[in-house]
Amino acid sequence: MEQERERAGGGDPLRVCVVGASGKLGRYMVRHALDRGYEVVGVCREKSVGKLAEFADRITVVPGQTDDREVVGRAVAGCDAVLTVLVPWGVRGYSSGTAQAVLDLAPEGARLVFSCGWHITRDGEDVYSRRFRATVRAVTVLARLARVIDVDDQVEACRRVFDSGTRWTVVRGSDLEEGESEGLPVWSRHVGDPVLASNLTRRTDFALFMVEAITDDALVHEAPAIVGRRTPSARAHARTSRPHGSQEAR
Ligand SMILES: NC(=O)c1ccc[n+]([C@@H]2O[C@H](COP(=O)([O-])OP(=O)(O)OC[C@H]3O[C@@H](n4cnc5c(N)ncnc54)[C@H](OP(=O)(O)O)[C@@H]3O)[C@@H](O)[C@H]2O)c1
Repeated sequence: MEQERERAGGGDPLRVCVVGASGKLGRYMVRHALDRGYEVVGVCREKSVGKLAEFADRITVVPGQTDDREVVGRAVAGCDAVLTVLVPWGVRGYSSGTAQAVLDLAPEGARLVFSCGWHITRDGEDVYSRRFRATVRAVTVLARLARVIDVDDQVEACRRVFDSGTRWTVVRGSDLEEGESEGLPVWSRHVGDPVLASNLTRRTDFALFMVEAITDDALVHEAPAIVGRRTPSARAHARTSRPHGSQEAR
């Protein structure tokens, strides 16, 4: 296990960049990466650097917008993996700009793991409830009208990731809650799988899944939709409809 956490053939720890490190998900990812002994580089907006104070002496912070190619280029240099928080802030292509910078500038062969929500579909085979679709539609329209968030730009960002020739994984989060870790979430290739019906994951476990994906080659070129392993749907269905590569809930 220790070996797979280190660079092949060497004793150096993996070097991992977290793009969007100061957010809630970002800080959990930094914590999990440090727990594994990884070397961590975090990118966050200049005004948010203080939110990383608890990690001050243990990580390198590169301040700047996450869609700034110069900033991202400096941060990902020499990294074995890049964990990217995709959030579609504003209406100027923030999410797609961030994804494109990581895709273009991360070292060849690096593991690239991106976060988004269940609303992103890779192959159109996800089955959403009427309520879920209505909510996404309402948020998309209202947030864009208010010029706060552009959900379509997150869709575009993920399309670019899916079409890239990189070693990507796009982790699709359910609704999130705070709380102690329940362990690695279970996952399915498609929303609509009964194992996901509870639609709830602890935020720390979303981050755990992102960090674990770095060393899980079964997740390369997958877009796992995740749910907490202790939720009722995971407990009820993990054994019967266990999707490829998922963890059995206990
Ligand atoms: N929240 C949910 O219920 C939910 C559900 C499913 C999936 N997800 C996914 O989870 C990920 C992040 O979730 P989270 O709850 O951890 O979010 P969060 O804490 O709000 O973090 C979001 C990120 O956006 C940045 N940000 C905030 N305002 C910004 C602005 N005006 N301009 C540019 N950047 C800004 C934050 O940076 P600063 O620290 O600089 O503010 C932070 O890096 C996303 O990929 C999202 O799609 C979330």
